[in-house]
Amino acid sequence: MPHTYPGHFPATRLRRGRSADFSRRLVRENRLTRDDLIYPIFVTEGEAMDIQAMPGQKRHTLTGLADEIDEVVALGISMIVLFPVIDPSKKTPEAEEAANPDGLIPTAIRQIKARHPELGVMTDVALDPYTSHGQDGVIDEAGYVLNDPTIEILVAQTLAHADAGADIVSPSDMMDGRIQAMRHALEDAGHINTVIMSYAAKFASSYYNPFREALGSAGNLGKADKRTYQVDPANGDEAMREVALDLKEGADMVMVKPGMPYLDIIHRVKTEFGVPTFAYHVSGEYAMLKAAIDNGWLDERAAVMECLLSFKRAGCDAVLTYFAKDAARWLGEA
Ligand code: PBG
Repeated sequence: MPHTYPGHFPATRLRRGRSADFSRRLVRENRLTRDDLIYPIFVTEGEAMDIQAMPGQKRHTLTGLADEIDEVVALGISMIVLFPVIDPSKKTPEAEEAANPDGLIPTAIRQIKARHPELGVMTDVALDPYTSHGQDGVIDEAGYVLNDPTIEILVAQTLAHADAGADIVSPSDMMDGRIQAMRHALEDAGHINTVIMSYAAKFASSYYNPFREALGSAGNLGKADKRTYQVDPANGDEAMREVALDLKEGADMVMVKPGMPYLDIIHRVKTEFGVPTFAYHVSGEYAMLKAAIDNGWLDERAAVMECLLSFKRAGCDAVLTYFAKDAARWLGEA
């Protein structure tokens, strides 16, 4: 059939919109900006050290942290999240160090706020960096993580962070009822504007392993796992119930974690609740990409930007990613 035969052309040619750069830009539905990036930083009481399974990431000393933060600010990133590498001698079964007002994280917060008051500082509320057994809470003789006693310590940790100037506290422990307890304690202490970003849908994932190496908690945890509190990767409805509960208890923002394997959950959360929704593009996802990139199998910039954009398309307001500095740099060049 001749291609000019009347009536026999496709009614819609979506390729028209894709045919030139200007029209591709006009029809582009999602964009990544520097405002979409939250950068996780490891701070240590020990020596500065590269993290083997996370090429390009390292443990920063409090002294080295200043340079790192200057760089982050210069790149236009507006929020960081801190993770502590605690001296093994300070790890205990009940994680007392977690609530030390002069501990590593409160000290780091004060230092950062003194230098860059406008930079948003978020902290992780969880006990695993501080427990001798590597669990996110206190345990009984059988190794079971006790919910309510853990919450008491999480609340003390929350207050230590908020008193030191944290803008956002972010519980990553998955205890039932911790958001309500934290919100009440913050209100009572006068921290009415301290935001709670809940790791609401946090899955029992194998993608956290490089992070546990970075924190030095992998050895403490040994062969134990976190499946009695983190969500089963098979469950979507249950993740939605977690989000609903955390919002009811007073969470301001919610997070889904890990990221790429859980884009369906992100989409469901954003669609159903319409609240500020974030994803944690976790250590294992970073390691996976880096391994392929370092082997020359993937183009770094293209692969990373595509991945970060997929979070936006799924419904994220911003992403916690170890690629934040790279992405900010590329966005500045674009
Ligand atoms: C622990 C915590 C974990 C991460 C953030 N907070 C690991 C875990 O639950 O064992 C993982 C982050 C990452 O993998 O990048 N409270």
